[in-house]
Amino acid sequence: MSFTIKVNDRQHVVDIDGDTPLLWAIRDVIGMTGTKFGCGIAQCGACTVHLDGEPVRSCVLPISAVGTREVTTIEAVGATDAGKRIQDAWLAVDVVQCGYCQSGQIMSAAALLKRNPSPSDADIDAAMSGNICRCATYVRIRAAIKQAATGKIVVTQAIPVSAVGGRK
Ligand code: FES
Ligand code: FES
Repeated sequence: MSFTIKVNDRQHVVDIDGDTPLLWAIRDVIGMTGTKFGCGIAQCGACTVHLDGEPVRSCVLPISAVGTREVTTIEAVGATDAGKRIQDAWLAVDVVQCGYCQSGQIMSAAALLKRNPSPSDADIDAAMSGNICRCATYVRIRAAIKQAATGKIVVTQAIPVSAVGGRK
């Protein structure tokens, strides 16, 4: 079946089954591979995109449910004010480790900053709790969101090796 979806300000016609997740339309049909597949069951956040500005898990959203809503992916979020500030802060704080989860993290963080320009720690934790990072970059993610929100440099503190069960 044929669906027309708007992704990053461009209309795309995709010819796939209606129950195919949006993620596969974005990656395999349209060819934008910045959005990642992690769990496939809405548990990790790696596949997060925006639908009319709201973060959604594209791995469980059928293409037939997208309709006329606008999809924004990591490839274009930097064109929004919140997305640009988040990406700049991400670089300044050097958040990324392996990088696999990071497009999803940035999409969730940009959506948070757009709806809440001054998020508290609790706001950040609530908004980001569905985005899992195997490299445990959570401290730097929170610092980058605070930096993007305030414009002030936030110093991250190293976690002592002993606190994570390492050498004494
Ligand atoms: S791949 Fe979609 S939430 Fe994990
Ligand atoms: S940076 Fe490696 S999984 Fe998050």
